[in-house]
Amino acid sequence: MRDDVLALLSQALSDREQRGILRELRTRQPGIDFYSNDYLGLARNNACHEMLLASLNDNPQWLRGGTGSRLVSGNSALTLSVEDFIAAEHRTERALLFPSGYMANMALFSCLPGRNDTVLLDEFVHRSVLDGCRLSFAGKMRFQHNDLDHLENRLAKSRGKCWIAVESLYSMEGDFAPLHEMVALAERYGASLIVDEAHAMGVFGYGLVCDAQLQERVCATVVTYGKAMGAHGAAILSRGTVMDYLVNFAAPFIYTTGLPDLFAATIRNNYTFLKANPHLRDDLQDRIRYFFSAGLPTLSGAASPVQAVPCPGMERLAAAKEMLEAQSLFTFAVRPPTVKSGSERLRVSLHTFNTKAEIQQLTDLLKAFHDTE
Ligand SMILES: Cc1ncc(COP(=O)(O)O)c(C=O)c1O
Repeated sequence: MRDDVLALLSQALSDREQRGILRELRTRQPGIDFYSNDYLGLARNNACHEMLLASLNDNPQWLRGGTGSRLVSGNSALTLSVEDFIAAEHRTERALLFPSGYMANMALFSCLPGRNDTVLLDEFVHRSVLDGCRLSFAGKMRFQHNDLDHLENRLAKSRGKCWIAVESLYSMEGDFAPLHEMVALAERYGASLIVDEAHAMGVFGYGLVCDAQLQERVCATVVTYGKAMGAHGAAILSRGTVMDYLVNFAAPFIYTTGLPDLFAATIRNNYTFLKANPHLRDDLQDRIRYFFSAGLPTLSGAASPVQAVPCPGMERLAAAKEMLEAQSLFTFAVRPPTVKSGSERLRVSLHTFNTKAEIQQLTDLLKAFHDTE
């Protein structure tokens, strides 16, 4: 490799290091998990794993690798039947599985909006949506987070067919989109609303679109399985025509190896397990209420498993995170470029398996830290 290229890369990395935003891979630490997306504890639930193991023992053919694109050798009867199962559970026409939510969003936004169309993006929408838009030739405009007036203003200015991208529960803010109002606004302007339910799926039934019975009024929903569902992968839920279009035109679906059967089997297993254990959602809400009752400042909704505690300033944020880690409490420090400079925050993720004593320890320490300001 050329030395000047390596020097450029090293320079970019040391710039990041100096600004305190260098990303590094660390293994999972033994300690108390306030940072993963495993809200319902399914990823670590032995009973859920045993159920899966029993069905794998009966169906060892599910361990076969993906082998190819779903349009070549990578499609299986199991994948199709799990997609039918998902569609029925969500009361939607069809479901299409993807290896990840990132790829599902890439597929939707790279291929549905056409050259003469406009995509309106909530300013805090996930990076996978932005990257999908980069692959499309449509015009893009951002609107202020959850601001219906600003969205309407943008709708009035958009050209061609209009697509609106939102999350039902925002991953870095822990607040909710006003879905009913957005659906009504989209309908008024003939726009197509696409809702990313990555963090709501499983926590609020099968997501907030399904909970509010808005399936018929949105264009598509993305649900992911690597968070509260304790598995991996994602599905797009929509009409059959949209799915057929994606199968024909979405490069992130066509030019990649299909999801292996093991993943599809795990997804169905975890739906079934969750249906048999609905108390998990109540347990989670109980923990969230307990956290909320401590009265810490938070940007997030009262029912959200993601609680964003403002901690502006890089040094202060690092100090808060380290102070908690010294007590084996692991949170996630949200820094630029993920959020704007000055709006740094500590993201506390709550789980069914967090005990009240652990939550109290965390909130006591954070309160004491805030009081030292
Ligand atoms: C809102 C949102 N959408 C999509 C994704 C991507 O999902 P996955 O992790 O399955 O690729 C994430 C994950 O970070 C997310 O938070």
